[in-house]
Amino acid sequence: MLLTDAATRHAIFVGGKGGVGKTSIASSLALARAQQGARVLVVSTDPAHNLGHLWERPIGDDIVTLWRADGQEGAGTPGCVDGIEIDPARTVDAHLAAVSTTMTRMLPERLHRAARDHLESARKAPGTYEAAVLERVAETLETGLDRYDLVVFDTAPSGHTLHLLSMPEAMTDWTEKLLANRDRSERFSVAYGALGGTKDTSDRDAELRRMLLRRRARFSLMRDTLADPRRTGFVIVTVAEPMPVAESREVASQLESLGVTLMGVVANRLSPAELMPVRREREEALLANLDLGAPITRIPLIDELVGLAALERLAGVLA
Ligand SMILES: Nc1ncnc2c1ncn2[C@@H]1O[C@H](COP(=O)(O)OP(=O)(O)OP(=O)(O)O)[C@@H](O)[C@H]1O
Ligand SMILES: [Mg+2]
Repeated sequence: MLLTDAATRHAIFVGGKGGVGKTSIASSLALARAQQGARVLVVSTDPAHNLGHLWERPIGDDIVTLWRADGQEGAGTPGCVDGIEIDPARTVDAHLAAVSTTMTRMLPERLHRAARDHLESARKAPGTYEAAVLERVAETLETGLDRYDLVVFDTAPSGHTLHLLSMPEAMTDWTEKLLANRDRSERFSVAYGALGGTKDTSDRDAELRRMLLRRRARFSLMRDTLADPRRTGFVIVTVAEPMPVAESREVASQLESLGVTLMGVVANRLSPAELMPVRREREEALLANLDLGAPITRIPLIDELVGLAALERLAGVLA
């Protein structure tokens, strides 16, 4: 059921409480789709990445190949899983380095130190890191939709992710305002140029404007993708225990208010009925009350869930 629904989507966000199995489900879903011939990119947005651990190979902020069907070669070929672990610190560094270069060019020598101090505090300011994560998620989504059939996001525990999903709207507005400001200052710099000002300023303005336009396009793509139930779905992973189940309800209602479609619920690590009948009955009673308007997929407890063999087993259960 989950796999059939996944086959129609281009972007899937896998979320849920810490440690419930988001990375395992996101990875096995990616593998199951790739086994059907899809080109899949799995993206970890959780700063405490564990995608690499599960696939037993280092993954970083650049796309690497995790699996491909026999006889397929080259990035993005049919039947493949590629992966990336988003590193927001890298985005923050690159951004601050660019700003620092501009500042150094524009400010007199005696102000350089103050400017550097200011940038250092910006690095630690609340929101800088989050904005960088969003920037990279939007960027990866854009690349992913372009080059792959499906992008699966293995997200950070609930609160973070929901906040992230609500941000493109605000970021689009904000970029919009910056662009309006640029328009005004561009008119000013044209006038300034006519009075004999430097060309350098208007080049820089044009570059900044291009950057803001790119970014606006990226955020609107993310916003439109998130709001499109035919292209995008959210999967809540939970374990059948009171706390995670309660949190899943909370996440589902927040998704609804964000306009993001809940595609399915995964009840992970269910106890084996033959060995632990009483426990399993208690789990089923909790699930019977968990009506979130999306189908529930049941996944049993599997021992040693690390490495390709385990992922193949889990993908088999999904199929
Ligand atoms: N069906 C399963 N059977 C047995 N163990 C499982 C199953 N699913 C996940 N696990 C194990 O549970 C632990 C947490 O799984 P996973 O890393 O996928 O969760 P997560 O939600 O991504 O965690 P985090 O919030 O820390 O990122 C891992 O040790 C994993 O091997
Ligand atoms: Mg994880």
